[in-house]
Amino acid sequence: MNKKLRMAGFLAAAALCSHAAAQDDPNAGDPERGRILADSCLGCHGIEGNMTTYPPYHVPRLGGQNPNYIIKALKGYANDDRAHEGMHAQAADLSEQNLQDIATYFGQEAAVEANPEVTAPESGIYCASCHGVNGVSITTEFPHLAGQHADYLNETIRQYLEGERSDISMNAFLNLLTDEQLNELSEFYASQPGLVTAKR
Ligand code: HEC
Ligand code: HEC
Repeated sequence: MNKKLRMAGFLAAAALCSHAAAQDDPNAGDPERGRILADSCLGCHGIEGNMTTYPPYHVPRLGGQNPNYIIKALKGYANDDRAHEGMHAQAADLSEQNLQDIATYFGQEAAVEANPEVTAPESGIYCASCHGVNGVSITTEFPHLAGQHADYLNETIRQYLEGERSDISMNAFLNLLTDEQLNELSEFYASQPGLVTAKR
C-alpha cells in the first residue's frame, strides 16, 4: 500500500470513530412541520435548475440529503465555519427543533441508495470509504454526492481547498487529487441516481 493510500485509510478510520458516538436518528424531526418551515427555502432550493448569480453555480439539491448532514451544514453557515452570506442569513436564527424538522422533511423527499456495483473513476478510491462507490455516503453525518449538481460539487471542492469551508477529512483528501481528477469525480457523482430537487 502506498503512503497516500495508508493515510487515506487512517483518516477514514479516524473520522468514522469520531462519528460513531453520534446516534443517527433521521426520524427525530416532524417532516410535516418541516415542510411548512422549509417553504421559504424552496424559493431557491425547490426550483429545478436554479443558479446563483455570482459566481454562477446550481443551488444544491436537498431532496434525499442526509438529515444530520443538513443540520451540520446549517450550523456551519450560522457560525461562519462556512463562508456564505446568503445562507448565513437563512440559517442564523433556526432553533434546534426547527433544524430537526426541516432536515427530516428534506431527507425523506427521496430514497438514495448505495450501489457498490457501479464502476467509478479510479481516483474515487480516496472517497469511497466515506461517500460510497456511487456517492451515497455511509453515515448520515456525511453528504450524499449522488445526483448533486456537478458544478455545485466543484464549487464546494474549491471552497474546501481555499479555506472558505473547513473540514479536517475533506481538506486532507482533496489535496491528494488533481483538479482534473476532482472534476471527473464531480461529473461521475452527479450522473448517478440519488438526490432530487425538493418540491412544495
Ligand atoms: C436565496 C437563495 C437561498 C435560500 C432562500 C436558501 N438557500 Fe440554502 N443554499 C443556497 C445556496 C446558493 C447554497 C450553496 C452555498 C455554498 O456555496 O455553500 C445553499 C446551501 C444550502 C445547504 C448546504 C447543502 C450542501 O449540500 O452542503 C443547505 C443544507 C441549505 N442551503 C439549506 C437551506 C434551508 C434549510 C433554507 C431555508 C431555511 C435555505 N437553504 C434557504 C441558497 C439558498
Ligand atoms: C473521511 C471521510 C471522507 C472522505 C474520505 C471524503 N469525504 Fe468528502 N466529505 C466528508 C464530510 C464529513 C463532508 C462534509 C464536511 C462539511 O461539514 O462541510 C464532505 C463533503 C464533501 C463535499 C461537499 C458536498 C456538499 O454537498 O456540500 C464534496 C463535493 C466531497 N465531500 C467530495 C469528496 C471527494 C471527491 C472525496 C475523495 C477525494 C471525498 N469527499 C473524500 C467526508 C469525507
